[in-house]
This record gives sequence, structure tokens and C-alpha cells, in this order.
Amino acid sequence: MKDRPDAILRTEQARYLDSLLPPRDPLLAEMERRAAQNDVPISDPEVGRLLTLLARARGARRILEIGTAIGYGTICLARGATEARVVTIDRDPSRLEEARGWLVRAEVLDRVELVEGEALERLATIDGPFDLVYLDGDKTLYRRCLDHALPKLAVGGLVVADNLLWKGKIADPDPDDEDESARALEAFNGYLMIHPQLDAVVLPLGDGVGLAAKRQPLVTEMGGPF
Ligand SMILES: C[S@@+](CC[C@H](N)C(=O)[O-])C[C@H]1O[C@@H](n2cnc3c(N)ncnc32)[C@H](O)[C@@H]1O
Repeated sequence: MKDRPDAILRTEQARYLDSLLPPRDPLLAEMERRAAQNDVPISDPEVGRLLTLLARARGARRILEIGTAIGYGTICLARGATEARVVTIDRDPSRLEEARGWLVRAEVLDRVELVEGEALERLATIDGPFDLVYLDGDKTLYRRCLDHALPKLAVGGLVVADNLLWKGKIADPDPDDEDESARALEAFNGYLMIHPQLDAVVLPLGDGVGLAAKRQPLVTEMGGPF
């Protein structure tokens, strides 16, 4: 149990954790440089490692990612679960085109379906079940994406949601900063943590990562499942 609320992630601890990260392989390192130079939002390296680890630990066969960007998270997921198929949605065709090139170089394109369009519209047309769902698109849509994705998630399947601490703005909001994403994420965090179908935590990793597993539905004397 931690001593006090700020006992874990002070600057020194965050720097130390960064220093523990091993160098990425040349392809991911090149993607990170390209993203930094061109202001493309990709997952943090530690989140990429978590995606790989979770996909592998779960033995995922089908994975859904919302928000592809240039495919950094997609590659981390596909590398973790080497038998898995990954469906990934993005509304930006130029990003998807670039992702295709990186996925070819990572030799995972044959296991990835790149879906262009608005997340909520496309989600409605995609069948489950999925073993892992990664929410990383528009932050104001996380709750609705979760609601749409949850029925397609297998029992025991994982939800990972990035950016839940949103640059520190959720815990330490600036009253003069009208940030729609921050407000939506704050509400989402509460929703995720008390969701009756999920066991969930928010991890102080990267920009804050939500991790949840779908529970077995409860069947009561009144019927169900609930
Ligand atoms: C943070 S980036 C995704 C990063 C990627 N998951 C990774 O791990 O590197 C968010 C992406 O979501 C896409 N996006 C944002 N809103 C969307 C929406 N409503 N529907 C589909 N894609 C959306 C953006 O075009 C952007 O490429």
C-alpha cells in the first residue's frame, strides 16, 4: 500500500521508469522518431509494451483497436499475439495508408484489417467476439465506444484505454482551460471503475492506462444474465 497519494510518481520516479525501458527494435524506434517529428499521436513505448504483454498473456485470437494512427499500437498488439487477427479503425485515410506501409515492414499486415471510418459507425458493423479491445481514438467517444464494444468482448477479455490521466489535467484541472476531452475522460474513468460488467483499474503508466477484464455475467434467481 502506498504511503501517501504522491508517493509513487514524482518526477524522479517517472524518469527512473523511463530509464528502465529497453531500447525498441529499429522499426518501432523509427516509428517513434517519425511520430515525434510529424506530431503524430502514437502510444507511449511503455504502453506499447503493455499491449504486447497483454495480448500475449491473454493468448488473444481477435483484437480490436479504435484509433490506428500509423499502426504503432497495432504492431505491438500483433507482435504480442502472433496468431491473432487485429481489426483497427481510423477515420483518417492518410494515416491508414501510412500504417499499411509500417505493417508491411513489420510483416503483420496479413493479420491486420485496416478499417476506415468513424469509430462508432464502423463498430456497429464489426462482429465479435474479441479478446482484447484497445480504446485510443477520440477521447470524447470512449464511453460510447466501450458501450458498443463490450457486447463483442469475450468473457475474460480485456479492455485497455489510453490517456485516462490526460496530461495530468484530470487530477489537476486548469479552471481556465475548457478541455472537452478532459471532461469526457474524467466521466469515463468513473464509469469504467464502477462498470458492473468489468473489473477495472487505472494505471499511472504513460498518460494513464485503464485496464479492465469482462466478468462472467451474473445469473440470479430473478433471471439474468445481468
Ligand atoms: C492517439 S491516435 C492512435 C494511436 C495508436 N492507437 C497507437 O497506438 O499508436 C488516435 C487516432 O484516432 C483517430 N480518430 C480520432 N477520432 C476518431 C473517430 N471518431 N473515429 C475513428 N478514428 C478516430 C485519429 O485519426 C488518430 O489517428
